[in-house]
Amino acid sequence: MAKFIIEGENQLEGEIEVRGSKNTVLKVLASSLLFNKPILIENAPLVADFFKVTSLIEKLGGRVERESERTFKIFGNKIDSFKLDEETSKHLRSSIVLAGPLLARFKKVDFVFPGGCVIGKRPIDFFLEGFSKLGARIKEEEDYFRLEAEELKGAEIFFREKSVTATETLMMTALGAKGKTILKNAAMEPEVKYLADFLVKSGAKIKGAGTPIIEIMGLEEKVFKGLNPRENDCKFIVPSDRIEAGSLVILGALLGKNLKIKKVIPEEILNLLSNLDQAGIKYKLGRDWLEISKTNKILPLNLKTQPYPGFPTDLQPIFTVLLTQAGGESLVFETVFDGRLEYINDLNRMGARIILCDPHRTIVSGPTPLKNREMESPDLRAGLAFATAALIAEGKSIINNIDYIDRGYEKIEERLQKIGAKIKRII
Ligand code: EPU
Repeated sequence: MAKFIIEGENQLEGEIEVRGSKNTVLKVLASSLLFNKPILIENAPLVADFFKVTSLIEKLGGRVERESERTFKIFGNKIDSFKLDEETSKHLRSSIVLAGPLLARFKKVDFVFPGGCVIGKRPIDFFLEGFSKLGARIKEEEDYFRLEAEELKGAEIFFREKSVTATETLMMTALGAKGKTILKNAAMEPEVKYLADFLVKSGAKIKGAGTPIIEIMGLEEKVFKGLNPRENDCKFIVPSDRIEAGSLVILGALLGKNLKIKKVIPEEILNLLSNLDQAGIKYKLGRDWLEISKTNKILPLNLKTQPYPGFPTDLQPIFTVLLTQAGGESLVFETVFDGRLEYINDLNRMGARIILCDPHRTIVSGPTPLKNREMESPDLRAGLAFATAALIAEGKSIINNIDYIDRGYEKIEERLQKIGAKIKRII
């Protein structure tokens, strides 16, 4: 297993560019199964999860051609199987997103309960209820599912809780139904809107993505027609990753010296910026960049994660590292997932003072200097939080299990080295 060796307390200086959005590209890859021609993806982030989904598409009979470093042609139209590969799906939450277009296309799909980062229960009840409302019969045996339908019919689906991937999946399934589907209390994350905009540009009729009510007109007549746009319209340029942007901004607040983060979409990180303002952290913001330096006096605050446009749960662990350096008591309230605070034990072993009040709340007392440790990366975002803690800590730390970090941050050590970090990958 690969690991990072990190020497802390180095300034980060120069420029770093944000890569394409992981959680956007994964859904656009899945949407390729709805097309009658290949789609072109530009500015793809070269992260492990991207390659896992392209491999799922290949295992369904599709083809993937790499045209240049970050440009891929995806022949989702070539698939001839409705069985999602078990081994890959067991380790990838977003595998279930492919079940939506597969059901739309074949009226049949076999899949296994999706795995992924261990950050709480992560059930799939919203998906199953939605599939069933659209007319699919569900057969379940242990962790194996088969969905089948003679035809899918538009329906009204209300989500008890906002779910990003359930919204995206059912939006795509509804394209394979007859008539109109209305999703209510839908997720409003930018990833949902990017996906809908791409599908609309390719001929789908979807209204309201980015708001809590989304209306989808099915493409189905007698048989599934599929999307058949003019050649040029099949291109998707992946926008910057708002979580990577946020992670780099927080690193800059801890260690930056005029660190310039390029390809930022300010509109998508407004909640983070508002929290930085409250913590007394200064930065310069341009149209698509942000410049930031280390802040010596960070103020404590109350942080609450929420669905977009609330504070993103994916930035909660790294923001907690920032709060260990704030002078006073901060409260962190994780409302989205129920298993996303366990990483605090390792931060405490580094010298942080964080109390777990209940499975959703911690109190962080600071500022506390951090000391080097050897740690296991428990998931993608906590893994990067550990790397961040190691970068501000005294001495040499080891982060094991960095495959998790590779799932969502492209060659992060090489990019951080260029701005002055002492971080090395050992294989
Ligand atoms: N939920 C259910 N039942 C369902 C689906 C979700 O109860 O059928 C619950 C979840 O347990 C959670 C809440 O709904 O408590 C919201 O979870 P959501 O479904 O929105 O999460 P997700 O779609 O599985 C995506 C991202 C995550 C990100 C969350 C929240 C992808 C591939 N993943 O997950 O990204 O944390 O939205 O913003 O888009 C990451 O990138 O590290 C990551 C985990």
